[in-house]
Amino acid sequence: MTERPYVLLSCAMSVDGCLDAPGGERLVLSGAADLDRVDDERASSDAIMVGAGTIRRDDPRLLIRSPERRAARTADGRPAHPIGVTLTASGDLDPGARFFSGGEAVGGIGVGAAADAGGETAGGVGGETVGGVGGEAAGGARRDRPARLVYCASPVTARTRRRLDGLAEVVDAGSRPALAAVLADLFRRGVRRLMVEGGADLSKQFLTGGLADELQLVIAPFFVGDPRAPRFAGPGRYPYGPGHQMAVAEVREVGAVVLLRYLLKAPVTGSAPPAGTGNVDAGRGVGVAEPVPGHGAPGAAGETTEADRGWQGEAIELSRRCPPSATAFAVGALVVAGDGTVLATGYSRESDPHDHAEEAALAKLDPADPRLAGATLYSSLEPCRFRASRPRPCAELIIEAGLRRVVIAWREPPVFAPGGGAALLAEAGITVVEIADLAAQARAVNAGVLGG
Ligand SMILES: NC(=O)c1ccc[n+]([C@@H]2O[C@H](COP(=O)([O-])OP(=O)(O)OC[C@H]3O[C@@H](n4cnc5c(N)ncnc54)[C@H](OP(=O)(O)O)[C@@H]3O)[C@@H](O)[C@H]2O)c1
Repeated sequence: MTERPYVLLSCAMSVDGCLDAPGGERLVLSGAADLDRVDDERASSDAIMVGAGTIRRDDPRLLIRSPERRAARTADGRPAHPIGVTLTASGDLDPGARFFSGGEAVGGIGVGAAADAGGETAGGVGGETVGGVGGEAAGGARRDRPARLVYCASPVTARTRRRLDGLAEVVDAGSRPALAAVLADLFRRGVRRLMVEGGADLSKQFLTGGLADELQLVIAPFFVGDPRAPRFAGPGRYPYGPGHQMAVAEVREVGAVVLLRYLLKAPVTGSAPPAGTGNVDAGRGVGVAEPVPGHGAPGAAGETTEADRGWQGEAIELSRRCPPSATAFAVGALVVAGDGTVLATGYSRESDPHDHAEEAALAKLDPADPRLAGATLYSSLEPCRFRASRPRPCAELIIEAGLRRVVIAWREPPVFAPGGGAALLAEAGITVVEIADLAAQARAVNAGVLGG
């Protein structure tokens, strides 16, 4: 499977599913508290995508409002604002739209910024990678300016490039840009978390295509009742029917609106993992949503091998999929058998807000599986020894599972709990290997809860 970012689809609607009023004034669907929540989600994203229709209708700036969140991002080595991304088949985009200019100066971002952008745009989707998340912004724009990417249908690419010269990188995305290819291109550019903020057409494509990992629906307490109003979803073939339901991860009142958060499982296709990916266990690999790249047999005892480093990198990648939380870490974990077979993967809040990564992975295993005794558990954070949310800490679950080797990147800092899981594992005779030079990567995923 081609790698793509974690995709969070965010949308506000009336009780009768309307995303906007028909014509005239824009419909206000959420208040200050929800706008602040959305700002927080934006701040934890590498890129934000909207359809060209939303740019024409709403003229959004797609910037981080909070100076603290911007500061936390830059302290973490990221651009102050996520990359703004849009798609167009018509090329009908106004160079004067706030999406391109950054609108009024916000945190030093001036009108007409990204002056260098658009120069290196010869590559199409799958071509040369220009810029990335952690370094220079897309299109060569300076880091302190909002980077903008436009995926454009081939027939209008040259014209659109000329119109948006200096404002955005315009990528030739083929005759009709395919979302899967666009996501793969964003991944190549370093985007690991993409927030999609509508509108109606684009959201539906993500949902029917099974390309979203999380859906955040905000319901405003009123009806619109006009058949001309754009509606959420609408008729289509969705992979999430009664026989393959989404998981409700959270229901929260946010001011006057209600937030519903769903986790979307990858559609069941029944297809075998493609060549070149990890040897995912086909039998009990329940819940291993996607094959992960293979790194070979884990190291033995206390040594640290290249395979260990590779698998730990996968655990850190998994941690990027965690639904955000202000009160818990984002952690990824995987259990790898002695022959390099991935037995299970997990990440924090995978299907419930209280899920820990190791717990989520262990829950997918057959306790009688004889391979567990020779398996290694990789976790981006030291397994917990104390927890308030559930009776059994992960260190105890690991001991009970019969695992003999655990590899971590980062010791648990005493932010939410005292730590000490590694010591408990060692007391039980389990070898704990710490790959300390990967700790910074594991910590970076948690910059939000660590206060930058
Ligand atoms: N309530 C909310 O949360 C929310 C959020 C956002 C927007 N909205 C509302 O949604 C409405 C806009 O929705 P919409 O459906 O009209 O527009 P949209 O989904 O924002 O954009 C659709 C347009 O995006 C481009 N596009 C989409 N997929 C593409 C693909 N695969 N390849 C190439 N281009 C692609 C096309 O642009 P071209 O036409 O240029 O080819 C298409 O017409 C507005 O009323 C807005 O207020 C509501």
